[in-house]
Amino acid sequence: MPKLGRMAASVTAAGLALSLAAFQSHADESAELIIDGTTIATKAAAPEGSPLEENISGWRFRSAETQALETDDFDNPGFVAVDYGAELWEDAAGSSGKSCASCHGDASESMKGLRTSMPKWNDEKGTLMTLEDHINWSREEHQGADPWKWESPEMLAMTAFLGVQSRGMPVNVKIDGPAEEWFNKGKELYYTRVGQLDLACANCHEDNWGNMIRADHLSQGQINGFPTYRLKWQGLGSTHRRFKGCMDNVRAKPFKRGSDEFTALELYIAWRGSGLSVETPAVRN
Ligand code: HEC
Ligand code: HEC
Repeated sequence: MPKLGRMAASVTAAGLALSLAAFQSHADESAELIIDGTTIATKAAAPEGSPLEENISGWRFRSAETQALETDDFDNPGFVAVDYGAELWEDAAGSSGKSCASCHGDASESMKGLRTSMPKWNDEKGTLMTLEDHINWSREEHQGADPWKWESPEMLAMTAFLGVQSRGMPVNVKIDGPAEEWFNKGKELYYTRVGQLDLACANCHEDNWGNMIRADHLSQGQINGFPTYRLKWQGLGSTHRRFKGCMDNVRAKPFKRGSDEFTALELYIAWRGSGLSVETPAVRN
């Protein structure tokens, strides 16, 4: 990222806050996200124990043009993938010869609300699992099909299609019981400075949200809209792709998509964004 490269040359990590332009207002503080007549909560009270007072969706920080793309499903470029996900839902595959629909029926009923709880603990597998992990678990062990690659068009389409079934519902992950250890690990990673720029997620998304970093309006780094359509990517990308991108930007060696580290970080960040509506597929620049 040449942009950050130039920035790095002029500021030390400690001086980052000072070097950011003193631009405190949000893109459009008063904007409300209304999709096809339904208001989607882009602000919510932060959960108890959070360092933030209020959770604000990344949508609020985008330009009016980018915001507008998310207000109409026909304009939202992420919906091409949602439609593909709906097709895949009906496709028979694997040794079972069954489709997702043969076992799960109507996704708008069986998958409703699921995205709000992700990632979550899976008793059978004895581990914390993301939505991607659940899909591949079911493909391999129930459907008898090959797993999809993390960032494949099929996986992005299915996570988008399943995410849409929870759109407008508040994020609400479980962080107690066996998930607690993962939560703590995710929190530790969030505050660990990494890379040549020696910055933690918190240095930007907790200490400096609302400020400008170059041309970008820094948000709280919430994940309620994933998979998200990024104009820069010209397509959908997973939560872990975004994490990886932010680690690349501070010149750190990023963890792998699907790694325990990113799964733990995902749980912690999902919790920070408790109460925000699922916005999948969100549109960002
Ligand atoms: C042969 C039947 C079968 C097929 C085909 C199948 N699943 Fe499943 N799936 C299950 C069972 C059984 C479970 C575990 C228990 C449950 O949720 O009912 C499950 C669980 C899941 C879960 C976790 C649900 C939760 O509430 O935690 C997801 C997500 C899922 N499947 C997605 C899919 C997708 C996407 C496909 C198609 C690519 C698919 N499944 C195909 C039987 C199937
Ligand atoms: C040098 C500052 C910086 C650091 C450090 C940083 N990010 Fe970011 N991040 C950004 C910028 C800039 C954007 C794009 C504008 C925005 O949404 O904030 C962004 C965007 C994001 C988004 C997308 C938000 C949305 O609404 O779609 C997520 C999620 C995110 N970052 C997570 C992380 C995580 C996790 C870490 C730590 C591993 C991290 N970031 C570290 C600067 C940073």
